[in-house]
Amino acid sequence: MIFGYWDFHFIICFSLVFLTDAVPDELPQPENLTLSWSTKRFSVTTNWNKPSGLEADCTVLYEIHFYSEKCPPNAAAVEKWRVKNVNHWWYTDVNEVCVSITTIPDKCGNKTQSKSLLKDLSRPQGVVKDFTCVYYSDKKMNCTWTIISNASNLQLFYGTNPTNLKPCVSYNDTGSTRTGCYLHDEKFLEGDTFFIVNGTLKGLPIQSNFIRKISNFVKIMPPKIRITRNGTLLRFQSSPPGFNKHCWNYEYLYRKCDEDAKNLRGDDDWSASVDYDEACRYTVQVQATYNCGKGNSSMSLPEYYGENRDLNWSLKVTSIVIPIVVSCCLIVALVLIRRHKDYLFPKIPEPSAMFKDMFNGNKDKGLEDAKLYVPTEDMVEKKISLEPEITFLHIEP
Ligand SMILES: *[C@@H]1O[C@H](CO)[C@@H](O)[C@H](O)[C@H]1NC(C)=O
Ligand SMILES: *[C@@H]1O[C@H](CO)[C@@H](O)[C@H](O)[C@H]1NC(C)=O
Ligand SMILES: *[C@@H]1O[C@H](CO)[C@@H](O)[C@H](O)[C@H]1NC(C)=O
Ligand SMILES: *[C@@H]1O[C@H](CO)[C@@H](O)[C@H](O)[C@H]1NC(C)=O
Repeated sequence: MIFGYWDFHFIICFSLVFLTDAVPDELPQPENLTLSWSTKRFSVTTNWNKPSGLEADCTVLYEIHFYSEKCPPNAAAVEKWRVKNVNHWWYTDVNEVCVSITTIPDKCGNKTQSKSLLKDLSRPQGVVKDFTCVYYSDKKMNCTWTIISNASNLQLFYGTNPTNLKPCVSYNDTGSTRTGCYLHDEKFLEGDTFFIVNGTLKGLPIQSNFIRKISNFVKIMPPKIRITRNGTLLRFQSSPPGFNKHCWNYEYLYRKCDEDAKNLRGDDDWSASVDYDEACRYTVQVQATYNCGKGNSSMSLPEYYGENRDLNWSLKVTSIVIPIVVSCCLIVALVLIRRHKDYLFPKIPEPSAMFKDMFNGNKDKGLEDAKLYVPTEDMVEKKISLEPEITFLHIEP
């Protein structure tokens, strides 16, 4: 009787399973899920217990989904992992953490994965927000932030190793509060950089944590362009980048006369060449882009070369205008010559008149000349006589 009873139930159950095709042989959920911050709060650690009631020959894995919001999550997971252990940790600087853990079969017959177990964790109140950095030159960057609480004694600590942070030495102040820091001499571009900004609020320590992949925050000054003519080519040469030279592309933007601007990729030596048109003014700009991460320079200020010249116009000038101008000049010249011909071509005095002058006026003219010359001779004599004679003579040789 008893066996029959159980057989009956088993058949019902089995057929239900078979009919609905949906009641799965689900694995049990993990148990006692906990989340915690590490001491410096750069990482979250999660622990759980293996679900009780697992069959002995059943091996399972755990799938972890990490969301950066409160549970239950709406957005997609930031990261996912599958692990064998019953704990896991990872770096994060988000303010809200939600974690879901699911038991999934490894070698466990036809068992299906468990329902997910959720847990969340919030970061304690921070001291600053909007933490941004700019890597602007080799081994140099500056980071800035906005204060969110009235904390005092703000300090920044930073480093590529979260367990070994250095203090900021060059703060950027706005009024009486520290709002930024200039940082030097670190291998910022290689991995993540860890930052703590801490202070005291109402006598208690308070801090904010940030993790930044600095290679995504590169912003340099635009390169400088030199334009030179090389035969029939015009060559644009830019100053090379100051660091990680293999990581940069230079893109030229140039305009010739009034044509549309064109793009041109710089070569390995940061230069580019175009055919030169002497009748055109060239306007050239360049922008550098960082490929080993994210970054660029802004577009450089324009550099110019040559002048716009209308060659057809100059042809017109030579073939039409110049002859007209020349003819006008000739006409004017002729008119002027006619008007002033008496002055320009004085009448040649008749030889008879000349001889008359010679014989009649010669004496008078000679006397006049002599009279004019005498006063100058007098002046010279006077001047010399003013100087002490002896001294003058001694110096002269
Ligand atoms: C979960 O924690 C409770 C109380 O600490 C404990 O009794 C229980 O055994 C734990 N579960 C597992 C599967 O270890
Ligand atoms: C898994 O299910 C199939 C049919 O769905 C069955 O043939 C197989 O024996 C089952 N395997 C185990 C290990 O239970
Ligand atoms: C970097 O420093 C300059 C000059 O002090 C400042 O104007 C700028 O906002 C800073 N930017 C960042 C993101 O640190
Ligand atoms: C900030 O952190 C440093 C290093 O951990 C510590 O020496 C300092 O006292 C902290 N500042 C405040 C105001 O808590």
